[in-house]
Amino acid sequence: MNPVTLVQQTFRAIDVIRKKRDGVELSRAEIEGLVSAYTAGEIPDYQVSAWLMAVVLKGMTRPETAALTDAMLRSGEVLDLSSLPAKKVDKHSTGGVGDKTSLVLAPLAAGAGVAVPMISGRGLGHTGGTLDKLEAIPGFNVNLPVAEFRRVLEVCGCAMIGQTAEIAPADRKLYALRDVTGTVESPYLICASIMSKKLAEGIDALVLDVKTGSGAFMKSEKDAAFLAELMVETGERMGKQVVALITDMDQPLGNMIGNALEVVEVVEVLRGGGPEDLRELCLELAGWMLHLGGISSTVAEGKQQSAKLIASGKALEKFRQMVELQGGDARVVDDAKRLPQAQHTIQVASAKAGYVGSIQCEQVGTACVILGGGRERKEDSVDPAVGIVLHKKVGDRVATGEPLATIYYNAEARAARARQLIEASFEVTGTASAARRPLIHRVIGEKTIGKSGEKN
Ligand code: URA
Repeated sequence: MNPVTLVQQTFRAIDVIRKKRDGVELSRAEIEGLVSAYTAGEIPDYQVSAWLMAVVLKGMTRPETAALTDAMLRSGEVLDLSSLPAKKVDKHSTGGVGDKTSLVLAPLAAGAGVAVPMISGRGLGHTGGTLDKLEAIPGFNVNLPVAEFRRVLEVCGCAMIGQTAEIAPADRKLYALRDVTGTVESPYLICASIMSKKLAEGIDALVLDVKTGSGAFMKSEKDAAFLAELMVETGERMGKQVVALITDMDQPLGNMIGNALEVVEVVEVLRGGGPEDLRELCLELAGWMLHLGGISSTVAEGKQQSAKLIASGKALEKFRQMVELQGGDARVVDDAKRLPQAQHTIQVASAKAGYVGSIQCEQVGTACVILGGGRERKEDSVDPAVGIVLHKKVGDRVATGEPLATIYYNAEARAARARQLIEASFEVTGTASAARRPLIHRVIGEKTIGKSGEKN
């Protein structure tokens, strides 16, 4: 009898759930059994939900995390992109509110000569998802078969898709289940989810953007650093160059939150404008991508090259080309009205004068989900048009009655709930706070990367 048959015969989901519930370490075979049975549709969502919750509460050891990542990675195909001459570099964020950097970075790095095979996720919990943002562009296909993904990558230098039946199918199922069962916030599950799909992409290097603050899954910098180290270690174990930037998510990134609205802001940045925080983070992450991609000898040089690619219009042209190649209406680049439009808007005004002291970022993300911009149940579809535009960010001065935000909505009842949350999320204080949180808190894994962008 071969080992697979043995695993299938002896594997019982209930045993694995109870063991994890009781804090007992699971074996590689048990984890593989659970992942492969769930991917094959042999065990129901409710059992896997219970197991996920046990993982959230009890955690995982390093060997368990490695086994989970491997099992999820091997649930599908691992791409071989060695025929592409350019270095393959991707970037992934742990999830935030208003975080649309992937849509800027893929064409930007491709414009510099890095190949970017990007496999992304949908909105998770209160955070937005790259795939939902891309699908706000009419016609954009995030479900390309692998052969077509490869073709777009060859022609354009970047391609952006979701997990498929071929690539990391286990993450596709688990991700959707975690989203609606309160089981997102586990560093072990986040690590396995991100690293399995990234390692399946056939990349040489990876830049991770690990968020920290009130809108991140990892609220404290300590927890974010733990997750970052876990992912860097997992990537290195698989022979990849991985660096993680711990970046701020204590307020939304940029000013626009919501799928179509975020595409508008992406185009603004690619045109050389857009909000300062978003621009700065995009350049920093692009600097790392170019450095690891062997295009620039330092990160600073990579940032400068990226700024030039934006100024010359080349990055925007790459974005246009990628949208066209993936079936999307590239006219949205010049005419934002071609994106889905919400029927109504309503403003949230400040009840008093002062300075914005803080913005409860998770609540803003939840408000967007309530508007229909994210999912409350697995089978929900998202409304690409709805969202929130912030007029004030932390540190800004505000007068009584001045708008703090505008809500874009299609359903009155949802708008009323979202409005309450947004009102409550702004704290307006009498005095300006002196210290601002930095955008980049720290970098993990850089010491192991040499001057040429190679691992030491
Ligand atoms: N992004 C992912 O791809 N997976 C997670 O679990 C969290 C963020």
